[in-house]
Formats: sequence, structure tokens, C-alpha cells
Amino acid sequence: MPSISIKGQLMPQSPIRKLVPFAEQAVKNGKSIYYLNIGQPDIKTPKIALQAVKDSKIDTLAYSRSEGSEIYRQKISDYYKKHDIDVSHEDIIVTTGGSEALLFAFGSVMDVEDEVIIPEPFYANYNGFSIASGVKVVPIISKIEDNFALPPIEEFEKLITPKTKAILICNPGNPTGYLYSKQEIQKLAAIVKKHDLFLLADEVYREFVYDGNTHYSIMQEEGLEDYAIMIDSVSKRYSMCGARIGCLVSKNKDVIQTALKFAQARLSPPTLAQIASEAALETPQSYFDAVIDEYVERRNTLITELQKIEGVKVAKPKGAFYCIAELPIKNSDHFAQWLLEDFELNGETIMVAPAGGFYSTPGAGLNQIRIAYVLKKESLIKAVNILKEALKVYKD
Ligand SMILES: Cc1ncc(COP(=O)(O)O)c(C=O)c1O
Repeated sequence: MPSISIKGQLMPQSPIRKLVPFAEQAVKNGKSIYYLNIGQPDIKTPKIALQAVKDSKIDTLAYSRSEGSEIYRQKISDYYKKHDIDVSHEDIIVTTGGSEALLFAFGSVMDVEDEVIIPEPFYANYNGFSIASGVKVVPIISKIEDNFALPPIEEFEKLITPKTKAILICNPGNPTGYLYSKQEIQKLAAIVKKHDLFLLADEVYREFVYDGNTHYSIMQEEGLEDYAIMIDSVSKRYSMCGARIGCLVSKNKDVIQTALKFAQARLSPPTLAQIASEAALETPQSYFDAVIDEYVERRNTLITELQKIEGVKVAKPKGAFYCIAELPIKNSDHFAQWLLEDFELNGETIMVAPAGGFYSTPGAGLNQIRIAYVLKKESLIKAVNILKEALKVYKD
């Protein structure tokens, strides 16, 4: 039989999705599950976006331009201006989700065996995108005890080698909920300029920032024009994960021209979803205000309830809608599967993401899980209670 590529064998399973067969079996066995594993918000998509697709008069569903429709890109640049980010439509390539923007960014700035430094824990698919691109992830640990703040600059500098091409951050962070301060972004800016690296920032959770904090984008930092590549998406902003629209943004013309070649190879981003995403830009601020209030309440509930469980350590997220919880267990892969297969509380259980997959350091995060607070407050309270009861009887 012909053999599978080494790259294919190395591709990690998603820690968020790999337990799905066990969840399906649990449901077949009659259990109800609280899904805390995946960042699929239960928030409604703005009506205006769905209506635009219904109203479209298209009679041939044609390819769009590879870089995305011009009018849509112009409107995205207007959206950024409102966020104090000065980019033109020519600095934007519309992609099939932030996922494709990450792949294009990796492909545009890194060769096989090049290295990218990423504070970990990080969004698990960065591992997958790196393997697909032949790039090596060099992790730099951020600690739960420090609320996952940016590690000291000297630690970054220790990791820089002639193969290092980029630093990738996620701001606000999935899975940590950490929000980088302006000072931290400026420190990163200084390192990338000093060592001639790209700074990639995944800012798909830009709106999800709490407690009166503000988001500072790498695109706002003066002098970083040639170094900064921003990744964005409509998935979380408008609860439009299924639209599959994102974008790559950079003022570096070489990066844009190169990313465009990757974009041309896959022809175009989805046409109907661009119509929905363009309309979504008209979403009133009141929508976001209500959504943010909801997430703050969910976060507060989740953290308060988790802190009541003995032996559980948790960092308070300042943004996005995830948290990492450290549990008094040895192996969260086993624990997460056990929750689905062998545990129930009055016919209910929970599905969580084992955090090991959010690290690339072998053995790191094994006693941690990631929880997405994408469920209503009442469900979160019940879910944490299930976790509490499960921990009382679980044996490693
Ligand atoms: C940090 C981060 N980046 C990128 C993505 C990819 O999003 P999409 O491809 O749906 O835009 C996700 C999805 O969960 C994410 O959490």
C-alpha cells in the first residue's frame, strides 16, 4: 500500500474535536452534554448579515476576486479606521476564515525548517498550520501563575536563531484570554525590528475585551509597517463561524503580493459569505455591547464557580471567551474521555478540551483543560458543578 506522508502522520488531531466520537456515543447512550470544548458561540448572527444573502439577486454563483471583492475590502478598511487602524483595501486579502489567513501568512514569510516563536499555550491549530507549512514552532512558556502575561523579552531573545523568521501572538488570546498591553506590543515591536523578524498577530477576538480595557493592535504601532501581519476573521465577531471569511492585513507590499499568489492558487474566498460579511459590517454597536455584557457575565460566573473547587487553579481572562483551568489530575486527555464515557451526574456530563494540544512542549499542560464559556450562565453553573462532582470520584 502506498504510504502516507510524514507530514500527514505528524499532523496533530484537534484537541477540540478529537473527542467528538466519544461525545456522540455518550449522546447515543442517553447522556446530555454541556459542550465547553469548542469556541462555537451560541450568540445569534446579526440578522442584517443573513438577510443580505436572502436578498441577493445573484443568478450565477461566480468566483470572486482572489483578494476578495473590492467593495468589501474598502468597507473592512473603514471598519479598521474606526478601530484606529489605518489600512487601505490594498493592504487586505480576504480569506476563507482566519485559518486560511494564517496558512497564507506562514507560506508567505517562512520556508521549510524556519522557526516561529509562539507564547504557549496557544491556539491548537497553530501546530497544524506549522506542520502543513513545514515550519518549526518554538514555544515560549507563559504561566498560569502570571495570568499568562508576555514572557520577559530576554526569554524571547534566548530563543532567536538564524532560522527564526517570526513571532506569532494571539491577542486577546485563545486559550488563555490574555490581553496584551500597549507596552507589551511595543516590547515585541522592538524585538522584531532588532532581529528583523515578522510579527504575526491573530486578532480574531478584537471586540471581546472586558473590564474597560482596550485592545491595542500591532497595526497601530508606528514603525512596524514592514514587520506586522494581522490575521482577522468574522467568525467570532459576528458569530458567523460557518461563513468562512477572514482576512490577512499588512502594509508590507511584498507580503501582500506573495499572499495574493497563494490566494490565486485557491481561486477565491466564498462569494455568498462575502455578501453576508459585508452586510455584517453595518452591525450596530448595541449588538456588541449586549454580546460583551453577556460574555462578562459568563466569564464571571465561570471563574467564580471554578475558584470554589478545591485544587483548581484558574487565570481570569481579560478577553476572548476561553479559560485554562489547572485541575488536581495527571492527564486531562484521559480525564476528558472518562467524563464522556464513564461519568454522569443525573444523566448529564461535560465535554472539555484537554490542554496538552495547546502546547508544543511535550508533557506541558497535561493537568489543564480549556473551557469555552460559550454557554448561558445557568448551563455554566451546572457544568462546573458536574466538573466538581467528577473530580471527587475521578482516579488518575
Ligand atoms: C485564535 C484563533 N485564530 C483563528 C481561528 C480560526 O477561525 P476561522 O478560521 O473560523 O476564522 C480561531 C478559531 O477558533 C481562533 O480561535
